Amino acid sequence: VTLTRVERCIDWQSGAVVLIDQTLLPQEERWLRITDVDTLVDCIVRLAVRGAPALGVAGALGVALAAYTEADVPAAAARLRTARPTAVNLARGVDRALAQLPAGPDAVLAEATAMLAEEAASCRALAERGADLIEELCPPRPLRLGTHCNTGWLATVEWGTALGVIAVLHRRGRVAQVFADETRPLLQGARLTAWELRRLGLDHRVVVDGAAPSLIARGLVDAVLVGADRIAANGDTVNKIGTYPLALAAARAGIPFLVAAPESTVDDATPTGADVPIEERDPTEVAPDGTPALNPAFDVTPADLITAIVTEQRTIRPSQQLAALAVEPA
Ligand code: MRU
Repeated sequence: VTLTRVERCIDWQSGAVVLIDQTLLPQEERWLRITDVDTLVDCIVRLAVRGAPALGVAGALGVALAAYTEADVPAAAARLRTARPTAVNLARGVDRALAQLPAGPDAVLAEATAMLAEEAASCRALAERGADLIEELCPPRPLRLGTHCNTGWLATVEWGTALGVIAVLHRRGRVAQVFADETRPLLQGARLTAWELRRLGLDHRVVVDGAAPSLIARGLVDAVLVGADRIAANGDTVNKIGTYPLALAAARAGIPFLVAAPESTVDDATPTGADVPIEERDPTEVAPDGTPALNPAFDVTPADLITAIVTEQRTIRPSQQLAALAVEPA
């Protein structure tokens, strides 16, 4: 199976970081040309660029921008590094590019663009591996797949993680329909995933987050595929808020719950999900002005609820006992 190459959602062009503004999709496809670090930090904070692998690349390209334009590069790198706390890729991308600073700005840029290419290649490989596994675990018929947030080329530079797996399965004729959770607070599923699914020619339905677990319980979903923002050493997986209830529902229904992510999202230095900083976003994203709200952007899915974590290098099965715990679907 060969995937068709698509334009990158973030890239380096003639001294600038170029990215598609994801806050405007699907209404408008506007590309931004960013020539200073603080505008890029702002883009990261307001989710104009988002998704763990794309954030890693944004961090690395941001350090390259700083190396050409800023007097104090480590200070600029620190602003990039802390723009969002949860996805490990951002800090990793910044640190990796910054390590090349003694060799000069061109070396920093070379490292950042190497990362771009590596992320694309990783997603291609993990998409094939994940599709093989889903075919192995699911019945031999076109499948009804559930997914959360956005894990396509918008989130990963090219190809996608969970959505990359779905795209490969689609090319193999194995997808009947995709349920894309709307994904609060900022509707990355309803706005971004639905837009990508339409471009891929996949039959899809957007469902509200509160409906997704019950669709699984009703036997309408054959497998759930999600990405990750950070995978702790014990396999606990931090992903967009609303992922955990899907994992619970999948375990209860006895269907596969697959996490698809590159190795750059696996964080062996963080022992468990409880050790990952969970981003809290502005209450105004979910409640009327002046109304107090708690707005965590991510949750932790315990390793024992995950059927398999698929990266470009390996398939990890954190819970071999899942089958024993699961209730057989009707
Ligand atoms: O807040 P976001 O949109 O950056 O969160 C992104 C997600 O939770 C994605 O599901 C995750 O990064 C995987 S991206 C391949």
